[in-house]
Amino acid sequence: MIQEELKKTIEKAIGERAVLEHPANPEHGDYSTSVALVLATKLDKNPRAIAEELVSKIRSEKSKLFDRVEIAGPGFINFFLSRECLFNELTSILREKEKYGRRKMKGTVVIDYSGPNIAKPFGVGHLRSTIIGQVLYNLHAFLGYKTIGDNHIGDWGTQFGKLLYQIKKEGLEKGDLSIQQLEELYVRFHQEAEHDETMEEGARAWFKKLEDGDTEARQIWKKARDTSLKEFEHIYKLLEVKIDNTLGESFYEPILKNVVEEVKKKGLAKKSRGAWIVEFPNEELPPAILLKSDEATNYFTRDLATIQYRLKKWKPNLILYEVGAEQSLYLKQLFWTAELLGWAKRERFHHVAHGLYRTKEGKFSTRKGQTVHLEEVLEDAINRAREIIEQSETARGLPTEEKETVAKAVGIGAVKFNDLLQNPSGDIVFDWDKMLNLKGNSAPYLQYTYARAKSILRKSNLARPSYSHLGPAKFEKEEMDVLRYMYRFPEIVAEAAKLFSPNLVAQFAVELAQKYNAFYNKLPVLQAETEEQKQFRLTLTSSVAQLLQNSLHLLGIETLERM
Ligand code: ARG
Repeated sequence: MIQEELKKTIEKAIGERAVLEHPANPEHGDYSTSVALVLATKLDKNPRAIAEELVSKIRSEKSKLFDRVEIAGPGFINFFLSRECLFNELTSILREKEKYGRRKMKGTVVIDYSGPNIAKPFGVGHLRSTIIGQVLYNLHAFLGYKTIGDNHIGDWGTQFGKLLYQIKKEGLEKGDLSIQQLEELYVRFHQEAEHDETMEEGARAWFKKLEDGDTEARQIWKKARDTSLKEFEHIYKLLEVKIDNTLGESFYEPILKNVVEEVKKKGLAKKSRGAWIVEFPNEELPPAILLKSDEATNYFTRDLATIQYRLKKWKPNLILYEVGAEQSLYLKQLFWTAELLGWAKRERFHHVAHGLYRTKEGKFSTRKGQTVHLEEVLEDAINRAREIIEQSETARGLPTEEKETVAKAVGIGAVKFNDLLQNPSGDIVFDWDKMLNLKGNSAPYLQYTYARAKSILRKSNLARPSYSHLGPAKFEKEEMDVLRYMYRFPEIVAEAAKLFSPNLVAQFAVELAQKYNAFYNKLPVLQAETEEQKQFRLTLTSSVAQLLQNSLHLLGIETLERM
């Protein structure tokens, strides 16, 4: 990674730690450091004088990474990467291909993502967790971490008592119930329970039966679980998401008692109005309920057990929770409890909180105000993509089967990219026109740029780009802009993982595509004036295609050879 190499060179020369940034204005170089300003404040000296001193030390290193160092403004030191350095990087991209930017980081990361609830349709709420969680997984795996995905599905809890009660009440225990029907049963339970006080009691009794392993209760529950998992599988297939483990809340049922005992034994549980609660030393954190007044466990109890299991089983350095922001307080309580129990420091857990989905009109819901079913949204995306393809000149001639592949990749890609282009913490606006805009910051825009680059390479009959020489004597500005951007990919990927921000990779891809398109619209590739220029531009094209592919791959978005 150039950034690291340069940092090392500078630090060796000046004997101080230096932070490197990319100046906003490329005329100020490729990297810049404010180390002279920092030192000047510390030593109470003139920053420009310090900068002069540091620059002369840096120059004496005779590094081949840069060919110009300049002092600018009050004492910034700016570096201009050398042609040799930029070309070496180009060579690395073409040689390492999909491995370019990989690292060998040590450590284990568990990623908790997706987490839909059984007997309920997979809503858009779980879509963000699934999309972002998968990219966090990809990023960490790419960087060399041992990465473990775990889908903590909601398949246990008192709500299943309600479901069982209602199923029995309506005499539906023998039939096969779809997710829709299961969801409706819940709704009916709540409607009817408003007028019938005995129902809540009945539901509790059914949950107790379920917990105690009653055959009928378990059977009905298992059927509902299987139906749900089958349906989730369908969605994961559409999204091309594969999660290593699906343990789910029910998996921890056998160890809940022990966990509760441990919390009590360590003096962390307190009886309060019939329930057992855990209190926290910090005041802004309200107590968490460990056991309800009827001694039933809850989401929190099961999450504690989950932590214990994960720590023992995988010894992770970090457990990431890709969960909606509305659970921030809850997860804070959870991480605190794990620390108070002496299991692990809070820093070993991190909540990557995501915002909500909205439409242009406001809240994301159907006309009747029900929850939006994800499967319909995804089918809709594919249908809309198909329409666009029918209108595109390049895709119109494709065989039907390939058109379908393209429609799926574009539709699903558009939904994913729309999410990934933003920092996870913000809300997402669902705007089909923007998401599918071939000229905007969208998946289809990137896929199209990639496909066009590949088409140029096919036409050139270029067996292997010749990147051994340093290219034409003089670069055009647009060529230089691409060349001076590509080398950042490895540092962007590392940064994206460190900050849990897939959007950095998405933004990189957009900016790279923009720079490449500016180049492509201005300068002929196949019709370049000289053979040398042509070779260089093809080499550039090939590297850009590679990096677009690498970026989209990390983002879980398919690339297409033609569209
Ligand atoms: N099933 C949960 C929900 O729908 C999400 C699970 C998140 N993971 C966790 N370990 N709590 O809210």
